[in-house]
Amino acid sequence: MKKLKVAIVGLGRMGEAYAKNLHYKIPQVDLVAACSINPTELAFAEKELGITNTFSDYDRMLKDVALDAVFVISSTDMHATHIIKGLKAGLHVFSEKPLAITEEACKKVEAVAANYPNQLAVVGFVRRFDPSYKYAKDKVDAGAIGKPYLVRSQTVDKDTIAEWQIQYVTKSGGIFHDFNVHDIDLARWFLGSEIKTVWSIGGAYKYPAFATAGDADNVMTTCVFENNTMAVINASRTAMQGHDTYTEVVGTHGTLRIGRPAAMNRVEIYDQYGIRQECVETFWDRFEQAFFLMTEDFINCILEGRQPALTLSDATQATIAATAFTTSFKEGKLITIR
Ligand SMILES: NC(=O)c1ccc[n+]([C@@H]2O[C@H](COP(=O)([O-])OP(=O)(O)OC[C@H]3O[C@@H](n4cnc5c(N)ncnc54)[C@H](O)[C@@H]3O)[C@@H](O)[C@H]2O)c1
Repeated sequence: MKKLKVAIVGLGRMGEAYAKNLHYKIPQVDLVAACSINPTELAFAEKELGITNTFSDYDRMLKDVALDAVFVISSTDMHATHIIKGLKAGLHVFSEKPLAITEEACKKVEAVAANYPNQLAVVGFVRRFDPSYKYAKDKVDAGAIGKPYLVRSQTVDKDTIAEWQIQYVTKSGGIFHDFNVHDIDLARWFLGSEIKTVWSIGGAYKYPAFATAGDADNVMTTCVFENNTMAVINASRTAMQGHDTYTEVVGTHGTLRIGRPAAMNRVEIYDQYGIRQECVETFWDRFEQAFFLMTEDFINCILEGRQPALTLSDATQATIAATAFTTSFKEGKLITIR
């Protein structure tokens, strides 16, 4: 079997999980190099994954190691730069979401990618690979709920990581780019249209430090699409129950609820607190399978010479909408995108 020589940049919370998937679970891959500005993370790659080519300098890794592809799992502020350098080095590139936090940076990546038509440049929107989301999309496409006209979608993290996220805001672009970019992508996917106008509200209700950082801990947006369908999208950093992320698609002949409630399993507990189900704890607990399927699909696209369904333009549109959400929230007014 032909194995692809793959590198990874970014070995943090997410990069470590990707590196383990690539190393242990994708036999079509040799994970031969890793890059991070954090020496502890490089030590992990050397010790746990046996990677001998470790670098703190991305340019050096691209120059020194013979590679087929690179996974860009670095902090959001570095995605566009790392993708462009990977493409110019002749590699297929997979990047975590979002592509960038400005339309200008996204368009720059698109322009560079257009010069390398034989290399893949893919941004991973993991929920499209979750079997339940995919099943729901197939149902919508088959007309099972008639014409979809409303998406309600939320990304909600457990309160326990909120304080860690305060530092994270400086590199993530804030709650709309970091959390709601997923819901935006799903709403575009299910409703088959681009967002026309947005109205975002919210605040730092529990952790005032988010307001100091120009961000929020809870937000809500209403959107109107070009085909006059609607989305209501919210995000929270302060849920006590767990990672309570789900989506609802309402159509003229029915409704699909995906991942709601965000139960850990099918067990109901009857005890002194009443009748209840436990919630999944983290995004990884909820989407672990989807992360694997997304990674495997990218590798198979390279090996089979196939184009992935999700394009760079999809990622750019998600960023354009998340930017409008952010502007609407900060300026307190309705934003017309197009
Ligand atoms: N799809 C999802 O549900 C999901 C969930 C979490 C994070 N993410 C995305 O994954 C990305 C990484 O998030 P994280 O939580 O792992 O962040 P993190 O802060 O834990 O890790 C960031 C990594 O980037 C590396 N890095 C930063 N600048 C670098 C540079 N100049 N050169 C080389 N390496 C550099 C750091 O060394 C670190 O390894 C983010 O873009 C985030 O949006 C996606």
